Amino acid sequence: MNAMGREGRRVRVWDLPVRLFHWSLVALLATSWISAEMGGNAMQIHQWSGVSVLTLVLFRLLWGFLGGTHARFASFVRSPRAALTYGCAVMRGDPPRYLGHNPLGGWMVLALLTSLGVQAGTGLFANDDIMIEGPLAVHVSKATSDLLTQVHEVNFNVLLALIAVHVLAALYYLVFRRDNLIMPMITGSKAAEGDDARGGAPWRAVLLLALSGGAVWLLLQE
Ligand code: HEM
Ligand code: HEM
Repeated sequence: MNAMGREGRRVRVWDLPVRLFHWSLVALLATSWISAEMGGNAMQIHQWSGVSVLTLVLFRLLWGFLGGTHARFASFVRSPRAALTYGCAVMRGDPPRYLGHNPLGGWMVLALLTSLGVQAGTGLFANDDIMIEGPLAVHVSKATSDLLTQVHEVNFNVLLALIAVHVLAALYYLVFRRDNLIMPMITGSKAAEGDDARGGAPWRAVLLLALSGGAVWLLLQE
């Protein structure tokens, strides 16, 4: 935890890879949703954007071990008790400020990444009974593909609910706590006391992204 003042210097918090990851994810998820609604030929786009989401999730998992200070799971995954204590402080209206993810936010990041992984993973095995199926559907029975298609549909609603809570939480801090968490996800820095966080080296991010893309490509080979 970091005690933080609101005036004074700005502290670097989110490294460029985390920010690029976040906003690319938002764009790809919107693309996946819109293309699924359109159906037909747009399902080609759906598969590509979904596979890209899978690549990004893999990258973020690796970045959680090899990225900058606040990107690392070790820096923001705290005990359920710590999350509860923080939640109680939110209820009382006086939650402490954190430079990186707060203890509740940390669990939300894990929930979002899990749901995104399940969504993209099940999509690979899904089918629409008519003309389109995920690239790995041929490797499982029709019954299994149907089941995973159901998971794909149900989990999408879970994902939407998580995203709604996530965005509402960001708005809560903005409106009620006068703490803008959104700008730092764009610029990378927060008005705070303290030292700049160590960002992960961009070359390492490029390497890990290539590794994630390569792993997904290998997975999709027949
Ligand atoms: C498709 C929708 C979205 C998804 C899947 C998503 C997912 C995520 C994930 C996984 C993180 C963790 C970042 C990391 O550590 O790598 C995060 C952080 C964050 N997101 Fe989103 N996000 C979405 C939309 C948005 C939108 C629309 C906003 C703006 C209102 C937003 C604001 C933030 C902020 C402020 C953080 C940092 C929270 C903190 O300071 O602890 N997100 N998001
Ligand atoms: C995280 C990214 C993804 C999101 C948000 C997403 C979302 C959706 C949604 C909302 C539907 C419509 C479900 C319905 O009919 O009610 C759908 C259907 C489908 N998706 Fe995805 N999807 C993603 C990734 C993928 C991937 C990676 C693939 C395969 C490469 C895929 C393949 C399919 C197929 C084959 C269907 C048709 C199944 C059906 O008609 O129910 N999806 N997806």
